[in-house]
Amino acid sequence: MKTIKASGVGNPIDRIEGHLKVTGKAKYASEFPVENMVYAQGVNSTIAKGKITSIDTTAAENLEGVLAVITYKNAEKLKNYTKEMTDFSLTTIAPVFQDRQVYYYGQYIACVVAETFEQAQYACRLVKVTYEEETPDIHLDKNKSKAYKPGDSADFTRGDMEAGMREAHVTLEETYTTPIEHQQPMELHAAIVSWNNAEVKMYANQQILDQATTSISETFNIPKEDVQIITPYIGGGFGSKLNVFKHITMATMASKMIGRPVQITVTRQQMFTNTGMRQFDEQKMRLGAKKDGSLTALAHHTTSHTAKNLQYFEACGNVSKMLYKTPNNAVTHRLIPLNIQCPSSMRAPGEATGSFALESAIDELAWKLKMDPIDFRIKNDTQVDMGEDKPFSSRLLKECLRIGADKFGWEKRKMQPRTNKNGNWLIGYGVSAASRRAPYMKTSAKVALELKQNAVNANLKMDATDIGTGTYTIVAQTVSEYLSIPVENVIVEIGDSEFPVTPGSGGSWGAASYCNGARKACENAIAELKKKQNIAESEEIEIAELLRQNNLSSFEAEGTVEPSEEYKKHSVFSFGANFTEVWVDKDTGMYRIKRMVNVGSAGKILNPKTAYGQIIGGLTMGAGMVIAERTQVEPNYGNFITRTLADYHVPVNLDLANIDVIFLPEEDKIANEMGIKGIGELGIISVAASIANAIFNATGKRMRDLPITPEKLIEAGLEPGVA
Ligand code: MOS
Repeated sequence: MKTIKASGVGNPIDRIEGHLKVTGKAKYASEFPVENMVYAQGVNSTIAKGKITSIDTTAAENLEGVLAVITYKNAEKLKNYTKEMTDFSLTTIAPVFQDRQVYYYGQYIACVVAETFEQAQYACRLVKVTYEEETPDIHLDKNKSKAYKPGDSADFTRGDMEAGMREAHVTLEETYTTPIEHQQPMELHAAIVSWNNAEVKMYANQQILDQATTSISETFNIPKEDVQIITPYIGGGFGSKLNVFKHITMATMASKMIGRPVQITVTRQQMFTNTGMRQFDEQKMRLGAKKDGSLTALAHHTTSHTAKNLQYFEACGNVSKMLYKTPNNAVTHRLIPLNIQCPSSMRAPGEATGSFALESAIDELAWKLKMDPIDFRIKNDTQVDMGEDKPFSSRLLKECLRIGADKFGWEKRKMQPRTNKNGNWLIGYGVSAASRRAPYMKTSAKVALELKQNAVNANLKMDATDIGTGTYTIVAQTVSEYLSIPVENVIVEIGDSEFPVTPGSGGSWGAASYCNGARKACENAIAELKKKQNIAESEEIEIAELLRQNNLSSFEAEGTVEPSEEYKKHSVFSFGANFTEVWVDKDTGMYRIKRMVNVGSAGKILNPKTAYGQIIGGLTMGAGMVIAERTQVEPNYGNFITRTLADYHVPVNLDLANIDVIFLPEEDKIANEMGIKGIGELGIISVAASIANAIFNATGKRMRDLPITPEKLIEAGLEPGVA
């Protein structure tokens, strides 16, 4: 009876909310019309370490329109960090102005509230601060003695690493470095906060509403039920909107103090210092292999930095535990506290940078073995996650590599660098493998059906978010599929913390969790309606007919899904392969990415159009890691030199080439009933290595420090040729 398939799961329909966005009707956090609203702006510290000795707010307070200046002197007492080093998790509190301590350059030290945005911004400049300044810890290298192990899970061993290295015929020991990077989504962080008696309601662009309400309620010591967050549209997150940052606390505190709704916008410059970033990573790789190409040992040792009072790290070594068959394995992570804001999750935290080190090292070892890098990877393929000692639910990495090689024309690759030339151009081909955990989490949804003549309209609610990924569309397609109604008859309402709880958007778990939650609500609606009429579950009957037989014009049902026992017994990952062709100018070191082919095995693809968008976006961000992205820290004062998009470069269309994206047909029923795995992060993973490996194939130069700029290539000495 499932006659309507045109807009169900798997079809490349246009985004259902697309027209609202292009016509400006979709409202983002800072755009809601709220009566009696005032504006807050944060004041940032101009030292990286020390104590505030005085703050003079008189001039700011006397300015026309200024309603309040909040500092440590008059701030509300909030829950504060109790430990010397607090874990920076998704529910961590965000206290502000609780003492005089400054931990990093740009830390909020005051907040001005005024009738207009301009008055607030101007008043910020009138706040006079003096400090007792101390020499900040800024450099990873100079603070190595302060390195510590962030908990037992930071280290992992399997077998005997040293024995594995002795067994090897060929070994490799190299260090790879990646700089601080910033997420910088198009939409600035913003919030409009208002209090109604003891309850707080805010429009705020948070990726995960349930976790954010926990953080806010704990910071202000109020019940979680009294916090509501609304965010129907989010203009990109890339991880920067996972956590609750302190502008939310400032606006919430200000609104409570003044008794009026407060709007706060974090400026583009502040988004470099106050809303997270990717850490600087130094990754030391040690590998050994036998002549036949079988890996005998693999170690991945990472050193990165964290804040002075908050602990966060992206676990770069995780990828080295599971991607290849390695009997002997060691992974460690050490952290060095610095006077720089705490790093946070940025798209594929751990894998984006970890895969650069691992997939570069694998390419280097293949070269030493004189083996084709695809054959080398396939030789060490495994259907078991040796890190967790569990079988993979499905793993089509070999297929991704083989099919990608075919599509890309890998057979034309010359193994010897500097042998494929075109005039001044040195041409190189590179490959890399990608893997990313595909989590599936507890999710609830509610569906409301309405019978109108012969048509059934469905309204689906959940506290999911759409960070630009296509949540609205794939959830609507799911409802269309499982109720067998046209997608035009489906309304999806998300982005409200009062709707049924989901895990939110992050960690590539959104699509699988949201869609299965929506599916379950629809299935429950049908099952409940059938039960009322004693209709067998197996009997196919149109939803409109079912409502009629029940004499109902409307009906509601809820559904909740959770990972199965089978899921827990398996390791669930998406896989992929990246292929790149680069042309490097042999004199100037300038290079062009000519072509990219990406093959992904990511379970059921809900909507090829939005899925392509995710992968192309990921590839672009991965290319950005190589060609441009780098946040530079001023070496004496600890401020970021790159703090606008004029000096922090991201790729533009002209930087990118022809991109081919292929999804292998796959449904992973162990992952979840719909067979979905995540793709939000898969696309960025190992792209950097694929490009760096292509640059080696072109030039014979190994570039182990990102980004790979023309100047670094010239320093590496392009002309002398292969070592
Ligand atoms: Mo992602 S870094 O979990 O938004």
